[in-house]
Amino acid sequence: MPSLEEARKILADAGQSHVLAFWNRLDAPARESLLAQIGRIDFAAVAKLRGVLADAGAKAAPAAAAPMEPAPVVELAGAELAAARARGEEELRAGRVGALVVAGGQGSRLGFEGPKGCYPVGPITDAPLFFFHARKLLALKRRYGRPVPFYVMTSETNDAATRAFFEERGYFGLAKEDVFFFVQGMWPALDPEGKVILDRPDHVFLSPDGHGGTLAALERSGALADMEARGLASVFYFQVDNPMVDVADPAFVGFHAAQGADLSVKVCAKRDPQEGLGVAVRRGGRTEIVEYTEFTDAQKNERAPDGELRYKYGSVAIHVFSVPFLRREASAGLPVHVAHKKVPHVDASGAVVKPSAPNAYKFEKFIFDALADAKVCPCVAFDREAEFSPVKNAEGADSPATCRADLSRKWARWLRAAGVAVPLDGRGYPVRRIEIDPAFAFDAASLAERLAAPGAPAEEPAGDILLREDA
Ligand code: UTP
Repeated sequence: MPSLEEARKILADAGQSHVLAFWNRLDAPARESLLAQIGRIDFAAVAKLRGVLADAGAKAAPAAAAPMEPAPVVELAGAELAAARARGEEELRAGRVGALVVAGGQGSRLGFEGPKGCYPVGPITDAPLFFFHARKLLALKRRYGRPVPFYVMTSETNDAATRAFFEERGYFGLAKEDVFFFVQGMWPALDPEGKVILDRPDHVFLSPDGHGGTLAALERSGALADMEARGLASVFYFQVDNPMVDVADPAFVGFHAAQGADLSVKVCAKRDPQEGLGVAVRRGGRTEIVEYTEFTDAQKNERAPDGELRYKYGSVAIHVFSVPFLRREASAGLPVHVAHKKVPHVDASGAVVKPSAPNAYKFEKFIFDALADAKVCPCVAFDREAEFSPVKNAEGADSPATCRADLSRKWARWLRAAGVAVPLDGRGYPVRRIEIDPAFAFDAASLAERLAAPGAPAEEPAGDILLREDA
């Protein structure tokens, strides 16, 4: 921790002396915590962010003006699907596959106190998001005989709570040594003059550096070295808010391996032209995910000759990374994006103000920018009804209610395929509540197997259907 004199010098050199504006009013613990925070902030990085802000102001025409076309998308089926799956199963049996969940976000739209991964989504048991991810990894370990190590990215804000939650829940049945938590970086926001913002008299406002912060954090934390020491060839990457994700899906992992890909991208058909998914395109000879805000309305609505949207496929941040590519990218550094946001700040009297309009610039890195450096980066289509229903908003689309309904509908499909009568309502959703622990069954085939096995739970004619496996 710097002394007061040292802190004054650091701040003066960085043009941020206002950080000590309330020093004379702070008590001893507040002074200590402010000095400690000044010691932790990388002011050289803040100077770079100031440069990013200046460049953003001077930016010319939007990038979408450059000619682009939809990226080619592979739809795996038949023999190609079987071959990809077989290859992925080989990878899993050899213990060459890891899983990485990004769980460092702030979940501000959901408005949930605590890490988003602790949010209860199980329609019957209120099992949290983390449960569904971890239990899929447990199922893979049982099926293929080797662990799929789980790398969980947190942020400074939720790291301790996330670790405590896993500990409290017995790691959901996973071996503790196969779960690796690592913390992403935090960046200050800047006001229009390039000054960091005090959100309390003794504290500089910081926010996570975006899911693109994963790459540097993997290296800094030793998680990347751990992957290498375990001999992992690839890592399945996904977001914490989608409990439908088919974690380490053998076909996707196998296709990636067979292609010798650096980075593979799962894409699905957009719900409608306005859906806010990044779109997979080819531009300047490279595959890119272009944010939907870069598209004009005409581009969003453009149709192909078959009547489908021309830019039909969106990315939902389900990827496979090869481990050597992660190593290369960790030091390459991703571009920094700027967003004009509402950031709480103190006024001249030290009182906290919650602005009603954007007042500051926040900085983030996006994981999909790594595509620019990927030499082989296939886009593979998947069925969103089977694999994608995120918890983003408190209500409406992509909310806990829609996510639970989509989970139930998927489980009802599996049950019906296994010969269990599950009455559906007019919209195709099951009338009874359903919940299936992924360690009991993780797809239609494994469910049919379990239900056919001796000692399978007897079907109840009415009421909830809860199929669970003891840890
Ligand atoms: P979102 O962009 O949906 O953000 O993150 P969020 O923080 O969950 O929610 P809002 O926007 O504040 O409402 C997509 C995924 O990326 C992770 C999130 O945890 C989520 O799994 N993420 C996002 C990080 O791990 N770090 C970040 O800095 C940002």
